[in-house]
Amino acid sequence: MFSLPVSKSKPALVYLCTMAEDLQVAQGSKEEQYRALIPQIKGLLEGEPDLVANLANVAAALKEQFGWFWVGFYLVKKEELVLGPFQGPVACTRIKKGRGVCGSSWEKAQTLIVADVEKFPGHIACSSLSRSEIVVPLFKDGEVAGVLDVDSSDLDQFDETDRQFLEQIVALISLH
Ligand code: SME
Repeated sequence: MFSLPVSKSKPALVYLCTMAEDLQVAQGSKEEQYRALIPQIKGLLEGEPDLVANLANVAAALKEQFGWFWVGFYLVKKEELVLGPFQGPVACTRIKKGRGVCGSSWEKAQTLIVADVEKFPGHIACSSLSRSEIVVPLFKDGEVAGVLDVDSSDLDQFDETDRQFLEQIVALISLH
């Protein structure tokens, strides 16, 4: 029979999850929200080497803090981006280099901010509800290894503050 280790000083539940699993959602300006979120993301990533686990928690933390329509990762596998951990509605699974906002961010190896997705040539509409988007590349050994894609259901939701802080956040994720 399965049994949990029991300690006289700590309740058995302590052994089920070794990290604080509650996100403290911050109020305030976008910058204040990012500044409150980043130490919590560092805490979530600390000591955990599994990439899928870390991408899943970063996507969840961003979605919970900002309430964006879709937040998730695509990872470079052979010649394509393949859908990774995400929060939001089901999405396109594979994107070729240079295609859409994600494939363009990969090709250019830079963050792309799109104020109105309908005005971005070749935008891939996984959902007609997505109106603006930011895509941030993840680097491993100087090469793009994946992208963070964030979609909003409102126009013009992303700016240089998002670029600065989302680039900081993806740099915390170890891809090795
Ligand atoms: N809109 C993206 C595709 C991914 S979904 O938005 C989740 C693009 O144009 O690359």
